[in-house]
Amino acid sequence: MRHIIHSKDITRQEMEALFTDANKLEKNPMPNLLQGKILASLFFEPSTRTRFSFECAIYRLGGSIITAENAKEFSSAAKGESIEDTISTMCAYADAIVMRHYQEGAASSAAKVSTVPIINAGDGISQHPTQTLLDLYTIKREHNQIDGISIVIVGDLRNGRTVKSLLWGLSKFNDVSVTLVSPEGLRLPKEAVNEFIGAGLEIKETDDLIGTIGDTDIVYQTRIQKERFPDMAEYEKYVGCYRIDVALVSKMRKNALLLHPLPRVDEIAPEVDELPQAAYFKQVKYGVLVRMAVLKWIMS
Ligand code: NCD
Repeated sequence: MRHIIHSKDITRQEMEALFTDANKLEKNPMPNLLQGKILASLFFEPSTRTRFSFECAIYRLGGSIITAENAKEFSSAAKGESIEDTISTMCAYADAIVMRHYQEGAASSAAKVSTVPIINAGDGISQHPTQTLLDLYTIKREHNQIDGISIVIVGDLRNGRTVKSLLWGLSKFNDVSVTLVSPEGLRLPKEAVNEFIGAGLEIKETDDLIGTIGDTDIVYQTRIQKERFPDMAEYEKYVGCYRIDVALVSKMRKNALLLHPLPRVDEIAPEVDELPQAAYFKQVKYGVLVRMAVLKWIMS
């Protein structure tokens, strides 16, 4: 049985096999592969893309889904049930569970008691491994390779789980150079930076986006994670700090990619969507293929 909890635990070989499978599923759909299988989705935090793309993925493979899109209020968690008991219960109903939770480590606690595969769809500020798979798949498809890339990762690096997840994913590839761009207060913690350097990434840190945006293959923009700020005045300090507009994209290389896990608030101007570098809605589309490949891997 295979859980998907942390990007660190997915090998390069497994990632490449998933990308190959995602390509195959696009060309040769398998509408009956998971017939009779049930996926449970338990979301204790809001989601648009992750939940709907998993729903879409299971339906496209012939399976079914049972879902709680607001598990915090509408599952027995609201009555005080532990995540372990909720998971032990869901195991009696479903063949796999995809879950998003506001607490770091929740998916890993779930995996300890689960008799079916658990997919971590986000645990607090920690991890979001299937987002990483679709981010890397997008880079591979649109840029041809991941080895040797330069990537600028921008925004709320302290609170963004997609950032930490992606860095672990990138560490599986060779010669990746990363520039982390954030305001001082939203930097990735020092220990984490050192851990990623130890894992093989070349990392620079700066607060200067304009000076770095022109000299990179990939720009990965992220949202300031409003829901993680106990003090709204603190959040307001960072609103609009790295807005990417048409003028800024014109400094990017012609063949560079602008990625974003979405949702965006105001950190990419809507006019940018029309530019050739904008690849975030391609990420959305590829997310279904990648999640189909993930479900095929752990459910069939
Ligand atoms: C991200 C998340 O939930 O971490 N969203 C997503 O799944 N695409 C990013 C975010 O919320 O900023």
